[in-house]
Amino acid sequence: MSLLIKGGEIVTGDEHFIGDIYCEHERITHIDRNIDAPPGAEVINASGKYVFPGFIDPHTHIYLPFMGAFSKDTYETGSKAALVGGTTTIFEMVCPSRSMSAAEGFALWNEQSAGKSACDYTYHMGVTKFDAESAEQLREIVKAGVSSFKIFLAYKGAFGIDDAELYQTLKLAKELGVIVTAHCENETLVAERQKELLAAGKAGPEQHHESRPPRVEAEGVHHLMTFAELTGAHVYIVHLSCDEALREALAARHRGVNVSIETLIQYLVLDKTDAERADFEGAKFVMSPPLRDKRNQEILWNGLRSGLVNTVATDHAPFDFKTQKPMGRDDFTKIPNGIPSLEDRVNLLFTHGVKTGRLDLHTFVNVASTNAAKIFGLFPRKGAIQIGADADLVIYDPEYRGMISATTQAMNVDYSAFEGWKIEGRPSVVTVRGEVAVRDGKFVGTIGRGKFLARATTHF
Ligand code: URP
Ligand code: ZN
Ligand code: ZN
Repeated sequence: MSLLIKGGEIVTGDEHFIGDIYCEHERITHIDRNIDAPPGAEVINASGKYVFPGFIDPHTHIYLPFMGAFSKDTYETGSKAALVGGTTTIFEMVCPSRSMSAAEGFALWNEQSAGKSACDYTYHMGVTKFDAESAEQLREIVKAGVSSFKIFLAYKGAFGIDDAELYQTLKLAKELGVIVTAHCENETLVAERQKELLAAGKAGPEQHHESRPPRVEAEGVHHLMTFAELTGAHVYIVHLSCDEALREALAARHRGVNVSIETLIQYLVLDKTDAERADFEGAKFVMSPPLRDKRNQEILWNGLRSGLVNTVATDHAPFDFKTQKPMGRDDFTKIPNGIPSLEDRVNLLFTHGVKTGRLDLHTFVNVASTNAAKIFGLFPRKGAIQIGADADLVIYDPEYRGMISATTQAMNVDYSAFEGWKIEGRPSVVTVRGEVAVRDGKFVGTIGRGKFLARATTHF
């Protein structure tokens, strides 16, 4: 199977030119101005379109038992949705409960993913407890190609770890050359504020923000930064949502802490008032950290533009509005957290970032693809258009005009947080290692073709 993509405007993190790309045996083998089609090659005309490296979502939950519910996507539905939206590689959070061992968690997530994904995928290994047994098992999991951990400073009694466990996890990570991704919120403050609000009869979805205001997140970031500074571990803050938390991270970076920063598409385009919608509609917008005051959006866009914020992810965690979110109808602390966005991230970032002039094309590619590949040890296999890279390519039509709706989305969830929103641009063709997986917005790929990506550790 070989593929020739002709005449597209090729855009990477640092290049922009018109050319042809030839792909054979899953890789890019030739890039030039005018390549003649070899016999048998499929030729795709990309003139008038951009050709981007496949996009990478560094933070998703495909299989997630959480808050008494299971998130709705499977590897089959989630990977199809990712591809339709231009994402060719996903990072899944392996989140074992504290009653499971790390090895059991790893095995369970492997059972969920094996042979079911249409796009390539890799894991961040959740460290939801730390003892001698987990340390040994984590070493094995790292040897199996998972070179990043995930920790939660929130979710007391569920995934959250205590300070001794945090310290030990970061020390092990530093020793192994593993990066630690972290959910930063002070779990004690969250738990105390939740109790106070419920006792005062404040139980609606709009109270979610009150229970975890910006200072709660900033305190979580500050805490992580102290531990990262003392252990020398490389840390990555997931889903950073606000100015206060960003300032803590940047102050630490200035003192030499090795910290990378992720924000989410949701924080860039939605805000706190969405979670305040009447008639429990706000529950559609409950996630942690919560959607913030609108003033934070420009701060995050500026952070991306200036390179202070490294990546834009989704934290995709789909729970149905009709049957799952109502678990918290009378108590906001029981609303399953998450806003599905895997399919929409790239189009929303293009529409609200590139089309509005907030991001140039290179920054768009960097924050949605290349930076994640570099931070997590996939570059230049992923996140690049160069000879030898995997032929994961997105032929993107900037003239397309459409609308997001739950009725047409591929994600397996009964609502869209972006219902009726207009998009300006979408992937017209998406390839996974040289095979066309999306044509004209429709999935045409192969379930099970997605590979687990083993990643090496780094020592820095
Ligand atoms: O609300 C969220 N973010 N749900 C998914 C779990 C997590 O915290 O990443
Ligand atoms: Zn989180
Ligand atoms: Zn998450």
